[in-house]
Amino acid sequence: MNPFSLFAVVAVACSAFLWPAGTPFAGGTPSASGAASPLEPGYVAGGRYIGAGACKNCHNGPAKGDMYDHWTKTKHAQAFASLASDKAKEVGKKHGVDEPQKSEKCLKCHVTAYGLPPAEVKNTLKQADGVQCESCHGPGEAHQKKRFAEASKPGAQPSPITADETHSARSMDNCNKCHNQDSPTFQPFCLVERMKDVEHLDPRKKRTAEELAKLRETCAPDCAHCKETKAKAAADGDKKDGEKKDGGGGK
Ligand code: HEC
Ligand code: HEC
Ligand code: HEC
Ligand code: HEC
Repeated sequence: MNPFSLFAVVAVACSAFLWPAGTPFAGGTPSASGAASPLEPGYVAGGRYIGAGACKNCHNGPAKGDMYDHWTKTKHAQAFASLASDKAKEVGKKHGVDEPQKSEKCLKCHVTAYGLPPAEVKNTLKQADGVQCESCHGPGEAHQKKRFAEASKPGAQPSPITADETHSARSMDNCNKCHNQDSPTFQPFCLVERMKDVEHLDPRKKRTAEELAKLRETCAPDCAHCKETKAKAAADGDKKDGEKKDGGGGK
């Protein structure tokens, strides 16, 4: 691949999503209504938030893609529990919070669907389960109902996922609802790096190496780390092309 075509691929991957005008619920209480985009809290087309335990029925174990089991091993599943740690108390103290597990100032990012009206959250959602599937995938009740109905028909194949059911975008919009500078322990966020720890692709979906590479290089336009990595990849590509022109491999 010549350096220009590599650059083109990178440019497309980075412009595949655009920054929203305002960061979704950057620090504020999620707005309860009027949210038009599935990436905004308060989006109710998918029904209510039902909690990770409800997703487990169909998305646990290797035969069903292992997403649930994978999630339990990520820090997201511990995000509520960790608010009881000594470190959390220390952080809380600096922000005038005595009990982080009881404060809106912390819970709004450390649990799913915090602060939404009861009508939008089913009581199967457990705060103690921390940052759950629906923080990234949107409320799942409609999806759950549709898929249970489908599964009850013998021999039926799953129909294609629709946008009002659930969404799964690997994009900064999905993460910076919480990974933003309102977090007292904010770390600069590189989507490429951070996705490595939370990725739970379905092994049953046979993706080609190119499809995987394209998915995994999705990054944020202002991520310095991604820019460096890409510049390096482009330079390495350059070198390889050069070697080929020289006859490649020969001493
Ligand atoms: C009754 C079974 C069932 C339940 C419960 C269920 N799902 Fe699914 N889900 C499916 C099926 C079937 C598919 C489509 C086939 C597949 O990808 O496995 C699917 C696909 C998905 C996808 C892939 C979407 C895409 O674009 O390909 C996501 C994301 C998802 N589910 C999230 C969730 C979340 C989050 C929950 C809990 C809130 C949940 N599911 C609960 C059955 C279920
Ligand atoms: C704007 C969202 C947001 C808010 C508000 C927030 N957090 Fe967090 N918190 C995060 C994210 C995201 C992380 C993961 C670290 C990172 O990448 O920034 C995190 C990580 C942490 C950690 C682990 C840090 C480590 O280095 O191990 C602690 C402890 C913590 N938060 C405590 C709190 C406390 C206490 C409050 C309330 C005073 C709070 N957080 C409010 C988003 C938030
Ligand atoms: C931190 C955000 C986040 C959390 C939490 C999360 N997911 Fe995902 N999930 C994603 C993203 C992003 C994708 C899109 C695929 C990718 O980019 O790796 C995805 C993809 C999926 C898919 C489709 C897999 C494929 O190969 O296409 C399913 C099914 C799924 N998630 C289910 C779940 C379930 C069930 C949970 C909770 C147990 C969960 N997810 C928790 C972000 C998340
Ligand atoms: C609802 C808020 C929320 C959303 C949305 C969210 N996260 Fe997180 N994330 C957190 C919190 C809170 C922590 C810290 C958990 C802890 O240690 O208490 C965290 C921790 C992490 C960690 C482990 C700690 C670290 O600093 O590396 C990774 C990796 C991560 N998130 C990646 C992602 C990615 C990628 C997305 C988007 C696809 C995402 N998160 C979306 C709240 C969120």
